[in-house]
Amino acid sequence: MNEAIGAEQLIAAAREAAANAWAPYSNFSVGAALLLADGRIVTGANVENASYGLSLCAETVAVAKASAEGRMRDVVAVGIVGGMTGADGVEPILPCGRCRQILNEAAQAGKRDLAVYCSGLTGGPVTEYKLSELLPHAFGPANLGIV
Ligand code: THU
Repeated sequence: MNEAIGAEQLIAAAREAAANAWAPYSNFSVGAALLLADGRIVTGANVENASYGLSLCAETVAVAKASAEGRMRDVVAVGIVGGMTGADGVEPILPCGRCRQILNEAAQAGKRDLAVYCSGLTGGPVTEYKLSELLPHAFGPANLGIV
């Protein structure tokens, strides 16, 4: 964890990002904030689609943004919040299975485990995990012979 930026700050950035969620179908807003090694924060929010299955999760959007900026190897932690839009959300939400795999690509690219901080959309406790704990025995580049 970058000493200058704590879990609470990352969660605050994720809450701010969640305000831009495009979630007219589920009314479930999610925000994600990636902490990069130099202290920069890259955020994402979920982007739903009328063709439901095409919807993008907040974590996926954040990783895509970081990658598009050439920062795939620099992700050290992620803060994630979610809850029903406009309601008090105080239960931590954890990344879905697909997002765990997407986050694992960034972790593997940077050769480090990621700290994953989870909280509710508007408040509540922050729970902390390691990505390796959320996605044990992950499929990754090593399975393709890439070290
Ligand atoms: N969602 C995320 O953005 N991230 C997750 O890890 C779980 C689910 C979004 C997808 C959809 O727009 C809404 O939450 C309800 O599933």
